[in-house]
Amino acid sequence: MDFNNKLVLITGASSGIGAATAKEFAKHNARVLLLARRIEELRKVAEEIQREGGYAKYYPVNIADYRSVEKTANKIKKEVGIPDIIFNNGGSGIWKYIDEETSEDISKLMTLYFGAFFVTRVFLPDILKRNTGHIVNMSSHVPVLPFPGANGYIVAHAAMRGFTDALRSDLYNTDINVTLLSCAKFRSTFWANNPGSEERYPKVALILGVPPVEVVARIIVKSTYKKKKVVTIPSLLKLADLINFICPPLMRWLLYHTGFTRKDLIVKNQKKPITP
Ligand SMILES: NC(=O)c1ccc[n+]([C@@H]2O[C@H](COP(=O)([O-])OP(=O)(O)OC[C@H]3O[C@@H](n4cnc5c(N)ncnc54)[C@H](OP(=O)(O)O)[C@@H]3O)[C@@H](O)[C@H]2O)c1
Repeated sequence: MDFNNKLVLITGASSGIGAATAKEFAKHNARVLLLARRIEELRKVAEEIQREGGYAKYYPVNIADYRSVEKTANKIKKEVGIPDIIFNNGGSGIWKYIDEETSEDISKLMTLYFGAFFVTRVFLPDILKRNTGHIVNMSSHVPVLPFPGANGYIVAHAAMRGFTDALRSDLYNTDINVTLLSCAKFRSTFWANNPGSEERYPKVALILGVPPVEVVARIIVKSTYKKKKVVTIPSLLKLADLINFICPPLMRWLLYHTGFTRKDLIVKNQKKPITP
């Protein structure tokens, strides 16, 4: 596997799967551009790649703000050029029931879609002119197998899947590839960055195992290289899809009864200190 100096732009590259994927791409001879808000974290990831002999540059940006994206994209175009591969990955994960959610939570969650839209749109005219490129979109499998207590997160990932399908249609008859990653839980900084979410993950899904980011990064890079259209991670998830296809009530029962319930929510809220 040799990416032959290809330029790979990765959002959400300051931690978790974004950082791990950047390291994996760099190992296979890609030049990586790291994007996120936390400049110190980005610098550390870039330095680690450079120490190993790889090429990495970092650009602090808020992908939810199109002005910030446009400014950064202009800088990238001037300094390094147009990316060959864009990995839209940056986002967060506040898991709440709809009645717990605030408008700020929803804006934060929709960063995944808005970020992907702004970043893709800003580079796409040049990518189209060149008629070669690859857009890889991160998504969770949760819209396929939804469970209670993560309303906005499920919606944000459904938006990302819709965006990916629509983009694929827009790029029909071009040489630009589109990949959808559909992931179950993996071990990353995500859970510490989004406190209160992990306890809501349905226990039944733990049967699939929880791979570390390095393993998932290897799958993502290999699938990008092979230009796969849809990648389900881990592949065992397809079995869950099959069960859901054959007997949806059974899958619903498993997800609802091994997940976080409203009863758990009441108990949790009762434990909260009473403020005067
Ligand atoms: N971990 C899992 O089990 C899992 C499963 C399925 C899908 N996913 C998805 O994978 C993606 C990456 O998650 P992760 O596990 O790597 O967790 P993470 O370590 O929390 O990574 C999130 C990344 O997104 C960046 N980000 C968030 N908001 C941003 C903004 N407004 N502008 C720029 N960058 C922003 C963060 O960087 P800054 O804070 O520095 O900006 C960080 O680099 C997420 O979209 C998540 O929903 C994760």
